[in-house]
Order: sequence, then structure tokens, then C-alpha cells
Amino acid sequence: MHDRVKDLMSRMTLAEKIGQLNLLPAGEGLVTGAKQPSTLAGRLDGGQVGAIFGTKSLATARAMQERALAGSRLNIPLFFAEDVIHGHRTVFPLNIALACSWDMDLIQATSAFAGAEAAAEGLHQAYAPMIDICRDPRWGRVAEGPGEDPLLASRIAAAATRGFQGADPGGPGRVAACLKHFVAYGAPESGRDYDNVSLSWEDLLSVYLPPFAAGVAAGAASVMVAFNAVNKLPMHANAPLVEGWLRGQSGFDGLVVSDYTGVAELVAHGLGPAPVVVARALHAGIDMDMVGEDYLRELPALARDGLAASDAGLDLSAAQIVQLIDRACYRVLTFKARLGLLDDPFRGMKGDPAPPRQKGRKLARKAAARSAVLLKNDGVLPLSRDIDVALIGPFSADRANMLGTWAVSGRAEDVVPLNEAVAALTGQAPAVAWGANIVDEDWLVQRLNVHGVTVTQDPRPEDEVIAEAVEAALAAAVVSAAVGEATEHAGESSSRLSPDLPAPQRRLIAALAATGRPLVVVVFAGRPLALGPIVGEADAVLYAWHGGIGGPEGVADSLFGAASPAGRLAVTLPAQPGEVPLSYASDTTGRPFPGRFAKFRTGWLDMPDDAPRFPFGFGLGYGQVSYGPPRLSKARAKAAQTVKLRLTIENTGNCEVIETVQLYASDPVARATRPGRWLIDFQQVTLAPGESREVGFAITAGQFAYPIAPSLEAAEWVRDPGLIQLHIGPNSRDTQMVDLTWQD
Ligand code: BGC
Repeated sequence: MHDRVKDLMSRMTLAEKIGQLNLLPAGEGLVTGAKQPSTLAGRLDGGQVGAIFGTKSLATARAMQERALAGSRLNIPLFFAEDVIHGHRTVFPLNIALACSWDMDLIQATSAFAGAEAAAEGLHQAYAPMIDICRDPRWGRVAEGPGEDPLLASRIAAAATRGFQGADPGGPGRVAACLKHFVAYGAPESGRDYDNVSLSWEDLLSVYLPPFAAGVAAGAASVMVAFNAVNKLPMHANAPLVEGWLRGQSGFDGLVVSDYTGVAELVAHGLGPAPVVVARALHAGIDMDMVGEDYLRELPALARDGLAASDAGLDLSAAQIVQLIDRACYRVLTFKARLGLLDDPFRGMKGDPAPPRQKGRKLARKAAARSAVLLKNDGVLPLSRDIDVALIGPFSADRANMLGTWAVSGRAEDVVPLNEAVAALTGQAPAVAWGANIVDEDWLVQRLNVHGVTVTQDPRPEDEVIAEAVEAALAAAVVSAAVGEATEHAGESSSRLSPDLPAPQRRLIAALAATGRPLVVVVFAGRPLALGPIVGEADAVLYAWHGGIGGPEGVADSLFGAASPAGRLAVTLPAQPGEVPLSYASDTTGRPFPGRFAKFRTGWLDMPDDAPRFPFGFGLGYGQVSYGPPRLSKARAKAAQTVKLRLTIENTGNCEVIETVQLYASDPVARATRPGRWLIDFQQVTLAPGESREVGFAITAGQFAYPIAPSLEAAEWVRDPGLIQLHIGPNSRDTQMVDLTWQD
């Protein structure tokens, strides 16, 4: 045990220990509007707060720290946390966008930059990375996550953790990572945020838990649990997963925090009244209680009387409750020690310089260009810089929506809008027309503007607005339509019934297509949208997500060839909104989809066979890459051996390309139904025009292990000898196959 922690624990009263478990929002600060001490100030004076999130300035954090130290008999400092999800003051592209870069150095760099900006503001912990796998684009929080694939998400979890923490989360310019939301939050029923999750233990173990294992292995110092229940047991009371899997099996030894009022919400989950749910959460290993203050209210009596709640299946003696309080308090203090706060409560609060903003801007612009996915290009892109472009659509000159959902410390004025970015790059201001309202419905506009107005309406009749756009289109040589979602369309509590482009914007695209002008559709969105007929109407489609402060500049770079598009979908784009949830890696069925509708086969009766499909891993560039045949060092191998897969790729085009070579596997004979194919490795290679390169992958038997799990406790990872099919290519669909046989 850390000496300082041991010493403190030996001198703390029970009330002081309980105070350490209380995690509060900065809210109105230390005074209320009437300059009266706020509730928070009272709590700090009474030594009843362990940490605070959302301070928004160094001065606020310092003032709170001073007050906390004065209010704490043993001078125990607070730590400060914030939602630093895709950047801090410098807002980077949404996490789903960054995931599409498949570039771990870039993800590490953006996390490191965001962490350094946060640390300079006196923050010690980022509520990130968010590593919830999501295969249902109705769920708005797909925006914050790493996409649908466990291997890609695991690498992202590790890269982001390294970025935030460096070698030491207590080091200068560093913050502790907080992996969230543990676990399976991205698989709620019907895509409705906060809803519960029922899934096989096998899927939990092989799809949803691996990113957490990877983040833990990379040293993540904290974890936040999720609002949902998994297989009937809410995560805030889920001892088997939190104390069992996370601490027991993954080897995590850091701090576990609740999500916002997550402990109190156990009552609504039906797990009992406040004292019972508090005991359950503490017993499950939730060390800190965010916002609800139920620990603070209920634990003193529980520690005195114990809990006999046989109807809720929980009996704990007073001594056991005290032990659980000690356990949680020990973890909070150890976290503070790890952050260097027990030695220096003002660590990171002495005005340490933030990293240069210009450096952040450059990184944000590069990240935006690297995150955009080129889905279609009939030769219209890249545009020549002296061509007459009309920018049409509600996002052509937009700032606020570009930031994306979690930009709590970002500012819209930092965004260079698309029209200005194009003007700066080409030297001529493009024509701009509104073209369509983002959505039609007034009630929806109100909901989308709940955090400030980002959605405005053109009051003119739609015909008039479209006629103006068509006129602008006809006057230009090429049209770029900037369409998509408002920032609040995605993110927390923004589930959508139908993940597609809102109707007025679809009508705009149809009208623009009818002009016959070359049409480049740029989609700014927080989720993968079903594009439907738009793909056929457009000559090129660039999926740009919400790209942060450098988003539109990254788009301009991509459109005009200053950057070569290299994004690859981290999540499958649905062809129609009704086919979700979906994943390239769904389990095989007895009647597999044959690629077109066939009666008595898996598929959709009312889906046209030629519906455009953009599978996981898909993305185009301006170069042309050819894949040579894959070769194995041996076609049959012993499990102890490493097999080398090699192939040569060549850039036969005349632009530089960044190619993401993707390796998938399938297991045709297993003990249980397995994914049709799943990603086992990938590599990114930059190729100059005409350059060819040999790419090699090391393949080991461990990559083919999978869980058999009648229950979580009885889970077993197995691997079978025999045939494995390896599929290599530029995306999850267009691959070449080679067979490998494990002899044992
Ligand atoms: C979200 C978390 C976030 C927390 C604190 C919750 O509503 O689910 O992701 O970290 O609020 O802002």
C-alpha cells in the first residue's frame, strides 16, 4: 500500500472516508447567483467531496482546491475531471471520425494534445476514451465511439490511453484516462440511449470487453461504468463484471466511477430503495458516486446498522459495509497518489502553459482530412483550384455544427467554415446557397437547439429555396452539396428512429442532380447514415462526419487534392435505415445472404439488389492500389509456430496514397457459430505514385481463440486445430483468400 495512503487511511474518520467517495459537478461554482455559498461550497467546507468535474477554468479549479484543503482536516486534495472526448479547447473530429483514420499515431497525438490542454486548465482526469463498440447507428453515441470492430477499437483504446497518460498520468501535461462506458453501452435495445442490453456472453467477451482489456493493458488509471443493464443486471450493481471480470480477470487496479446519477438510477432499475442500491453499488466495486450523493446520504447509517435486504438478495453486516467503504476510499486515495496530488495538491494548477493553439489547429485540420471517407468518385475529384464551385446546402457556411457532440470546451468561432476554407485554398470565394433546411419540423428544431442554437430555419417556401440553389448550381461548373446532421442529432440522448439524411436535404440533392452539373455530396454527420438514392445521384460522395474546428478545412483539402483521402469506414454504412443493427462481422447463419435477394435466404424482401453498399473498412483514395497474390510462409503449421503472410501492393495511380491493408479471418469449422469474418490485423502503408511495397503479417494461433460461455463464470477461451481462411484486401468485402491449417 502507498505509504501516504496508508497513513491517511489510519487517521481518517468514517465520515471523511465517505466524503472521498462523493464526485460532484462544478455546477454553479462556489457561490450562487445571489452570492450565497453554493451547496458545493458547503460540501467542500465539510470535507464531503472527493473530486469535481466540469470546472471550465484554472481559476475555478484552484479556488475549489483551496476551499477543499481548508475544509479537510487532513488536507486531502480534490482531483478534477472533464469530458475531454474529442479534444478540449481544440476540438478534433468526432471519435467515430478519428477511428476512420485507422491511424493510431494520429489518435495518440490528438489525445495527447487534448490531455495537455486539459492539464493546463488544472484537470487531472479525462472521461475518455469512450470505447463502446456500436453496431446500431440509431444510437446517437456512436459518434463518440470507435465503431463496430473489437480489434480496431482495442487498438484505439490503447492509443488514446497512451496519448492521455503518456508514461505516467501524473506527469506534466498528462491526465488519467477513464475507459467508458463499462460495458456494452453501445448495444441498447432498438438503439435507444440508456436502454438495456441482452446479448450472449460470447459476444460480450469477444466483442464488447476486448477494448476494455486493451485499455487496461495500456495502463488506463480509471473506468466509468455504464447506465445500462447487461443480461438483466445493471452495470452499477454488476459485481460479476466490475469486481469479477474487470478487476479479477483484466487485472485493472485503478479507480471505478459511476456515471451521472447512475447509483440513484438503480432504484428506477428496480433494484430496491436507496440504502439497498447504495450497498449494491459499493459492493459491486463502484468507488465513486457521481452527482447523486446517495453514498453520502446512505452510507453513514449503513455503516452503523448494516443491511439486511433478503428480498433484494443482499445481506451485509455493518463491519462488511465499513470494509467496502475502506476499499473504495483506498482506491480514491491511491488514484490521487498516482496523480501526484498527495505530494502536491496544486500539481498542474500553477499556470503550466497549454500547448500552442496553432499546433492544435494544424493537427485538427490534418485529422479532419484523414478521417473523411471518400465513398464514391466518378472522376470528378480532386477539383481543380480554378474551377467555379457552388457550395449548396445548410452546412456550406456552418460553424457550430462542425464541432460535433462533445465540445464542452470548444468554441464555434474557432471553426473555419467550408466556404471560407475553400476561398482560402483556391483564392476565390465560392457561390453559396442555403438550399434546404436541416430539418422541417419545428418541434425537432427545438430539440436540436437544446444546448444553444445551431439549427436555424429559412422561412421561405421550400420551392423558392430550392430554385435559388438550382440557379446557383447552373451558374457553376461543379456543385458541392454540404448536407447532413446537426451536432445535436447525434450524441447522448439523441437516438434516431431512422438513421438517414433528413427529408428536405434529400429533396435538395434530387433537385441538384437534375441540373446535370457534376455533383459532389459532402456529408457532415455524427453517425453512419443510410444514403439510399443519394449515392446514385451524386458523382462523388465524401463522408466527412463532424470534423471539429479544422473539419471544413480538412474537407477542402480533400476536395481540391491538397490531401489525399485515406479514411476507411470504422462502421458499416447501412444501405437502408431499417437494416440496422448490422455489422460486417455478424455470425454466419444456416441460410447466408447470397449477395442479392433470394427467397428463403437471410435478407430483406424490399431492399433492391443494387442498393449501394459501403462495408466496414471501405474507402477510396485518389491513387489506384493493386494487390498481388497473398503468400504464406507455410500452409500448415503447429500452434507454437508463427506463420508469415506476405503480399505486394502497388500504387498504379499518379497520386500518393495511404493504403490500409486489412487482414480478416474466418473459421469454417468451430464449436459454435462464429462471425462470417473478423478483422485480425491491419497495416497502413504510404505509397508514392508507381511505388510498390511488400507487406507482411505475422500470424499466430492465439488470434483464433474464441469464447464458449454458458455463463460469465463458466467462460472458456478455446481454439480448434484445422482450417482457417485468411482474407486480405482494402476493405472487409473485396478480399483475396488463402487457407491456413493448424495441425494442433
Ligand atoms: C455521460 C458520460 C459523461 C458524464 C459526465 C454522462 O451523462 O454518460 O459519458 O462522462 O455524463 O459529464
